[in-house]
Amino acid sequence: MSITALSNGDPVDTAQRHSAIERVGITIAIDGPAGSGKSTVSKILASRLGIGYLDTGAMYRALTWYVLEEGLDPSDTDAVAQAAAHMDLRMDSHPENPHLWVGDVEVTDAIRQPRIALQIRHISTNLKVRSWMATEQRCRMMEARALGSGMIAEGRDITTVVCPDADVRVLLLADEEARLKRRTLELYGDVSPEHLEIVRAQVHDRDQADLTVAEFMKPAEGVDVVDSTGLGIEGVVAAVLALVDENLRGRLAQN
Ligand code: DC
Repeated sequence: MSITALSNGDPVDTAQRHSAIERVGITIAIDGPAGSGKSTVSKILASRLGIGYLDTGAMYRALTWYVLEEGLDPSDTDAVAQAAAHMDLRMDSHPENPHLWVGDVEVTDAIRQPRIALQIRHISTNLKVRSWMATEQRCRMMEARALGSGMIAEGRDITTVVCPDADVRVLLLADEEARLKRRTLELYGDVSPEHLEIVRAQVHDRDQADLTVAEFMKPAEGVDVVDSTGLGIEGVVAAVLALVDENLRGRLAQN
């Protein structure tokens, strides 16, 4: 398969990207606040590039589910950190339909329940948990890259803590009202003023709690910002693909 176009800088197609990734592997880190479109964009990119997809928020959600299931106090930092180390978490990295299990129980749907959203801040602001998560998440990304494939991971601290050396690092931002509308539509299937206000309060509180432990509103050095406000999903995907091509070109030229 030809990878000449990639090395030349000419337009590239999917097969050429796949071939390049098989040769050099790839890690892509996407951060951004709630409702920025990270999950949708990351799943499409994983699918088009033929690489894995890691929803790191789902890992925090799974731990929250486990802590509640075990009857632990979510604010007991040591007990929760110990629970993380004992949790038997399995995930597939399927881009369109990722599934999660804790032990034998499939928790794919359960982790989206409102009771999880209400408690998750205790888990995501626990620094011992964050350190455990970062190690787990980085391992998964690096293993995939070493196997001649790759991983796109999305979250709040992937570009900064989990994988600051990722091949492509993007901070995905969007206008606050656009984010709220997207999240409300996801949760309620409509954007009525009543639902918008409920989600506004939830998202604001969670973002404030999360911002105390990770910076995901301003780019770290070397991180590219993509603002999805006026771009639409395909526009964002195209912007990230351009960064992917640039990175692959650079690394193929060195090989
Ligand atoms: O993206 P999400 O809504 O599924 O994330 C769930 C929670 O976990 C949210 O409060 C942000 C937090 N989170 C985090 O602190 N760091 C990550 N890398 C991913 C998610």
